[in-house]
Amino acid sequence: MRAVARANTNIALVKYWGKRDTALNLPAVGSLSLTLDGLSTRTTVVFDGKLAADSLLLNGADADERALGRVSKFLDLVRTRAGLIERARVESVNDFPTAAGLASSASAFAALAVAATHAAGLELSDRELSILARRGSGSAARSIFGGFSQMHRGESADGEDSFAEPIVTDWDVRLVIAATMTGRKATLSTDGMRHTAETSPYYDAWVKMSERDLGTARDAITRRDLQALGEVTEASCLSMHASAMAARPAVLYFVGATIEGYRIIQDLRRSGVPAWFTCDAGPHVKALTDAAHAQQVEAALAKLGKTWICRPGPHAEVLE
Ligand code: PMV
Repeated sequence: MRAVARANTNIALVKYWGKRDTALNLPAVGSLSLTLDGLSTRTTVVFDGKLAADSLLLNGADADERALGRVSKFLDLVRTRAGLIERARVESVNDFPTAAGLASSASAFAALAVAATHAAGLELSDRELSILARRGSGSAARSIFGGFSQMHRGESADGEDSFAEPIVTDWDVRLVIAATMTGRKATLSTDGMRHTAETSPYYDAWVKMSERDLGTARDAITRRDLQALGEVTEASCLSMHASAMAARPAVLYFVGATIEGYRIIQDLRRSGVPAWFTCDAGPHVKALTDAAHAQQVEAALAKLGKTWICRPGPHAEVLE
């Protein structure tokens, strides 16, 4: 009744923004991402009949009510499926600084899905794990897989066709991250998405465009065409943020350093360096590039804050 699992975080190149169903956490658009090496969550789950309630230790400290509630709700899905009534002790450790505000829900819910189902004695396929991880966080469905993966929007009301699938695991690109560290708490992605869908005049256009962007990105990956992938990566990110910025009132994740990072990447490109910008529901700058230019891109972004060069990361796995 105990298992340990690890999953790596991922960065969307074609973004997920908007839900078609909030109860089952079904996305309004498909998405496409790169799982990253070196940014992972390691989670231990122990189901124990002696426990009166679920507990959650996050990076060594008791988690707040909100985080515990989310995890407990997720564990209920696993308990129902496995026919268990035991409560669980969950310990989760990120091997990257959580304080930097980098997205951790993707690696967190993917690791929790793998650890909790294993501890409960369930044997799920990758697709079933992806569907389950999606209930915790949309982006987590993609972190079950290594390398490039695509999340399907799906059509069915029960969400059984809304899962991620691996595309390519052997294309050795790089993602450079610069954490701009502003300390200001951003709008949570769920709230930002809902508000964008409800009030932004550009939301429908965003949904429509993302379908085409997915096809373009998938095709670029199949051809190993970094320029085509980079261009659609930047376009998808800016379209997502444009739809959010047009919400009333605006959902704005960029800070000054985010724009500065975007300009730095544009300048690099003008000088012949293959690098393209992306950014999620926070202020941090991410650049897609190749192995030969990663250090140059990192050096150029270093003035914004702490940086990481990430290779494509592995599939989620059971460790113990
Ligand atoms: O998985 P969530 O609910 O935290 O949403 C992720 C939203 C973005 O990071 C902005 C885009 C994405 O596809 O990861």
